[in-house]
Amino acid sequence: MAKTFSKIILPAKGLEGEIKVPGDKSISHRAVILGSIADGKTEVTNFLPGEDNLRTVGALSKMGAAIERPSPSTVIINGAGMRGLKEPDDFIDCGNSGTTARLLTGLLSAQSFFSALTGDSSMRKRPMKRVVVPLTRMGAKITGRVSGEYLPLAITGGKLKGIIYSTPVPSAQLKSSLLLAGLYAEGETTIKEPQKSRDHTERMLKKFGAKVTSDGNKASIKKTRALKACNIDVPGDISSAAFFIVGALITADSELLIKDVGVNPTRCGILDILKKMRADIEILNFKEGDEPKADLVVRSSRLKGVDIGGKELLPAIDEFPVLCVAAAFAEGVTNISGAGELRVKESDRISVMAEELTKIGVSVREKKDGIVIEGRGKKIKGGKVTSHGDHRVAMALAAAGLASDGGVEIEGADCVDVSFPGFFKELERVKKD
Ligand code: S3P
Repeated sequence: MAKTFSKIILPAKGLEGEIKVPGDKSISHRAVILGSIADGKTEVTNFLPGEDNLRTVGALSKMGAAIERPSPSTVIINGAGMRGLKEPDDFIDCGNSGTTARLLTGLLSAQSFFSALTGDSSMRKRPMKRVVVPLTRMGAKITGRVSGEYLPLAITGGKLKGIIYSTPVPSAQLKSSLLLAGLYAEGETTIKEPQKSRDHTERMLKKFGAKVTSDGNKASIKKTRALKACNIDVPGDISSAAFFIVGALITADSELLIKDVGVNPTRCGILDILKKMRADIEILNFKEGDEPKADLVVRSSRLKGVDIGGKELLPAIDEFPVLCVAAAFAEGVTNISGAGELRVKESDRISVMAEELTKIGVSVREKKDGIVIEGRGKKIKGGKVTSHGDHRVAMALAAAGLASDGGVEIEGADCVDVSFPGFFKELERVKKD
């Protein structure tokens, strides 16, 4: 039986001081996967010890990668090499993690053994055919519930051939799954997306020595004989920073410094959207590196409602829940469209945010592909909400609580551990009562 607890977030005057958010979730997953199939020792620092990432660690350990964690945020991997993983003797449980499930489906399709993947009740409802269809075209043998649409999936790995594939949706999980399979496939594998999704996999594959190239919305990989271990220092997760950014913007008297946040252009759409809403966010100490990072200074702002389309949303795809909260406090209407993908995330984030914001006094209209939010231009009422087991919904609603009259009580608040263990402690630490 899953543990659950509720958390009350009381109103705050503002957020102040300095914080460092945990390491990026997407990058942490990729570092463990590539380190496990590389030759040599990979050291990952500022690794995110969230539940999702520990699923990836668990999966690769089960397949023989030697993974040590001398501290929660340091991972040392003695790579098994590209052909060194071994057949797991049981299901691989991906828990709540779509990234674990989809990326591993690609990797496992190319291994010379059988494996089976499952996940929690939310994960078992999320679409897998988007990876199963192209991987099958590459020669993979995958079966699963409802013709391979849902976990559990059974994968009989084997020889693959490269393909050219145009994805129906921009999705970094899909692209990365095919790139991992493409590492092993004969010839070249090319993925074309309707719009470029986050490119952490391409960047990291390059660092590990894979034959990967990218050009606009297109990424290609050639069969690679071996990957070379390297060290990865993970930048702070902008998706985690987003809750503090919005929390600081919507409270009356805030000035918050958020250190070392990843600002990869395929990820930091939230900054562009919030700036369009007239947010006061300063970007300091920009450093390029393998993954760009910077410090952010965020001050209380009078936000303005705006129209947001799918193209703008993709680099802020995980920030939809907290963007809805920012919109609830803005002056005027915010209309988000082209957000259909949000219905198949950890929860149906469109209907969940509509339902929960309504409970705390926000006027919302749900659309098939998005949401219309009547900004109040002032504090919200507050009340009792539920996370629906979705970590980002829980943290977005916590940000809303900071600028409420009566506080917000979140049922099922424990799910924040999926991507941000210690979130509530950090929030209390920077809160000005
Ligand atoms: C992720 C890609 C995105 C994102 C998810 C993490 C990744 O999913 O929403 O939280 O690490 O590649 P999609 O690929 O489904 O868009």
